[in-house]
Amino acid sequence: MDKEQIIGRYNTQIESVDSTNKYVSEALQKQELSEGTIVWALNQTQGKGQKGNSWESESGKNLLLSIVIYPDFIKAASQFMLNKVISLGVAEFIQSYKDDVKIKWPNDIYVGDKKIAGILIENRILGDVIQSSIVGIGININQKEFKSDAPNPVSLYNVTNKEYDLKECLKFLATIIDKWYKYLINEEFELIDTSYLTKLKNYNNFSNYLYEEKVIEAKILGVSEYGKLIIETIYASTIECDLKEITFLFD
Ligand code: BTN
Repeated sequence: MDKEQIIGRYNTQIESVDSTNKYVSEALQKQELSEGTIVWALNQTQGKGQKGNSWESESGKNLLLSIVIYPDFIKAASQFMLNKVISLGVAEFIQSYKDDVKIKWPNDIYVGDKKIAGILIENRILGDVIQSSIVGIGININQKEFKSDAPNPVSLYNVTNKEYDLKECLKFLATIIDKWYKYLINEEFELIDTSYLTKLKNYNNFSNYLYEEKVIEAKILGVSEYGKLIIETIYASTIECDLKEITFLFD
């Protein structure tokens, strides 16, 4: 490992836990963990997803991890920058095995029209900066079948017909996320913004959304500094919305 690598400098593996994000959050209340520490579990009994959903994962088959970072150089108002670099890192990891990888706003990772990975970032804001951040990542690696009603789950196995060594995958993922985190540290905002838009599913493409209980046809123009989605309807009106206000009617 590169001497300067931050992400994955320290690794803790646990067999089974309710949620790696919850585990790290509780650990942080008792002691400071070194920046870049990864806690990864083979099994989660109450894996947390976005919007209060749960995260399904068959025991021992997938990557389930939380990374601790202290990005106090990021203003609270710009915290979506962190979502961008983490999504780009996870997308690049998947892309190294399979093409057609996209980020579905805000930070779901898709292969074609199926979701392969999810990200749940929990930031602790102090004053106007991020004091600490728990970056939770779930990547479907070797699972063959999915039972929950999650929309269109898929694994790396499903799309490549190969099984992978989870430890090797984790090591590789850490080096890629480290690279993207360093772009953030080095304030390479233009590179990050452009890369995010290039990878964004349905960027600049018309498709259907449910907004204010109506189906609208719109294209994605971009994402605001605060991480809100900016879309333009076919009638040329611009809408800025958060995750609770809009439903994608495509996958
Ligand atoms: C989503 O809804 O797409 C986000 C899913 C995030 C799941 C990961 S698995 C490891 C970490 N621990 C959790 O409880 N959730 C995240």
